[in-house]
Amino acid sequence: VIHVETKTITGKIAPTMWGVFFEDINMGADGGIYAELVKNRSFEFFRPLMGWTVNGAKVKEGDLLILNRAPVATANPRFLRATVRNTAQGEAGLKNEGFRGMGIKQGLRYDFSVLYRQQQPGVSLHIQLLNSGGKVIGDTVLTPSQQDTAWHKQAVSFHATETEQKATLQLWLEGNGTIDLDMISLFPEDTWKRRPGGMRADMIQLLADMKPGFIRFPGGCIVEGFDLSQRYQWKKTIGPVEERQLIINRWNFEFAHRPAPDYFQTFGLGFFEYFQLAEDIGAEPLPILNCGMACQFNSAELVPLDELDPYIQDALDLIEFANGDTNTTWGKVRANMGHPAPFHLKMMGVGNENWGPQYVDRLKRFTKAIKEKYPEIKLVNSSGTDPDGERFDYLNKELRDMHADIIDEHYYRPPQWFMQNARRYDNYPRNGSKVFAGEYAAQSDKTVSIYNKNNWLTALSEAAFMTGLERNAAVVDMASYAPLFAHTDGWQWTPDLIWVDNLRSYGTPNYYVQQLFSLNKGTATVPVHMHNEVIAGQDSLYAAAALDEKSHELIIKLVNVSDKEQAYTVELDAKPAASAKLTVLQSEDVNSVNSFDQPGRISPEDTEIKLPGKRFPLKVAPRSLNVLRIRL
Ligand code: AHR
Repeated sequence: VIHVETKTITGKIAPTMWGVFFEDINMGADGGIYAELVKNRSFEFFRPLMGWTVNGAKVKEGDLLILNRAPVATANPRFLRATVRNTAQGEAGLKNEGFRGMGIKQGLRYDFSVLYRQQQPGVSLHIQLLNSGGKVIGDTVLTPSQQDTAWHKQAVSFHATETEQKATLQLWLEGNGTIDLDMISLFPEDTWKRRPGGMRADMIQLLADMKPGFIRFPGGCIVEGFDLSQRYQWKKTIGPVEERQLIINRWNFEFAHRPAPDYFQTFGLGFFEYFQLAEDIGAEPLPILNCGMACQFNSAELVPLDELDPYIQDALDLIEFANGDTNTTWGKVRANMGHPAPFHLKMMGVGNENWGPQYVDRLKRFTKAIKEKYPEIKLVNSSGTDPDGERFDYLNKELRDMHADIIDEHYYRPPQWFMQNARRYDNYPRNGSKVFAGEYAAQSDKTVSIYNKNNWLTALSEAAFMTGLERNAAVVDMASYAPLFAHTDGWQWTPDLIWVDNLRSYGTPNYYVQQLFSLNKGTATVPVHMHNEVIAGQDSLYAAAALDEKSHELIIKLVNVSDKEQAYTVELDAKPAASAKLTVLQSEDVNSVNSFDQPGRISPEDTEIKLPGKRFPLKVAPRSLNVLRIRL
């Protein structure tokens, strides 16, 4: 018999409980949610023509040059200078390969734009989209209209005639003369909320469908950088896109399974856009800032304590950027970008996966400065990467002694670890620091291996573990699976919650586990037990129960990790309505996965069940996550 006590509240569930972790890894931003189709649009990649090929029989040496005006334009120094002499279509041009090709949809409008400068008119741009066989599937002509020494932006739109996963963009330079070009850009019209220069709508919709309580950004290790010169600096990611200085991506691996030597952060998606995204999907923003330490897996580079002030100032300025009124320096910057209302930032992370006394020393300085000026902002502190090791114990003690608001724990472990750790938080102190399970994912094989799959066993074991997070909502305030997105042709890390190609996206079984917990969060936990014990693995069963105090519903989650159906009697201490909604996520095959061809192979199914009274029978399917919503 499973007993649920609906009148004994054991903890409040924070509205932030289930959220998402976003990082530009696996082509998450560039080539991912950022809908720009042109790779290396401003010629600033390590090699200026990465992503581009020059073509046409009339191109002579010196006709297409990359010029660098570094002293006068540090953020975007390079541009293309093209000279042509009486050229017609097909005689001189250059082609962009996109991010592993460009996903193009038949009938959709595409918006091309460019920055140009010309003393004399004479050169037109003939723009063509080509399918993988080289056939033109959309084209138009842009004739630059201004002639002087200044840069101008001009745009033109056209429609695609075919759907294609791996299109390329061909630019033919036609006419006679010299023209300078920069920021060569192509966006589809169907971006999220139809914002020009915006985000890929299908990917954002998958996030919105989770109704996440928070969104953590921009990472992950990219916060830290291989070295400090490559750390994420939010101030360089705001303002006009052509003035955002790109950097090499921390996940730019030559040695990854899918090498990505062309992986850069162009910051078309920057902190303004992340705050706006959080607002769009109703999630609390959770920015994470560099704490003056580079990624400790790669280097031991530290900022000396007496030179930490600019880093701390960045944190203070970010709070002003998010929340300050429009008369403040940074509040005005936000308003000028189109958002005079504040973003209502309530929390911020200092450091990603940093550890040791070096981290503690830096964190203390950040904490003092931030709390002095903004005592209402909650700070998320890192407890490193090893949930069971000495490093973790040391940091946890230090952070708790500092009365840390929220401690971020990360675990990438085998499914068995997740099942065995469903009671991890049962004895955590209730009155001290809160926990943020900031990155977790069960690994079916070695992390990053091609055999490391988002299979049903990983998802089921996470569901089992998450009942423990929910049961302990009195101490666990937030949790997020990681990483969030992966492009099938450009990933550096497995497993990942959502997989995409250039046109399609699907949620893994792990996605549906996250979504079910988030959509059925409740507001307060209540006890659920068997033989007077917490249900955390006996009979291969895991359970949590919550009330939604607004809708007067009881939400019971049951996870059966065995391969047998289990028959129980559920006993409540309150009279339920005559019927309830049961949602089941299930597969008998622990190795089964979702895919582009079968995106819903493992996905939730709803049924209605009759409830005869306070006691009712319930069959729990083999290897299943069950969510039962009962009106009281
Ligand atoms: O989620 C992938 C990486 O795992 C994150 O960047 C890092 O924080 C962790 O080590």
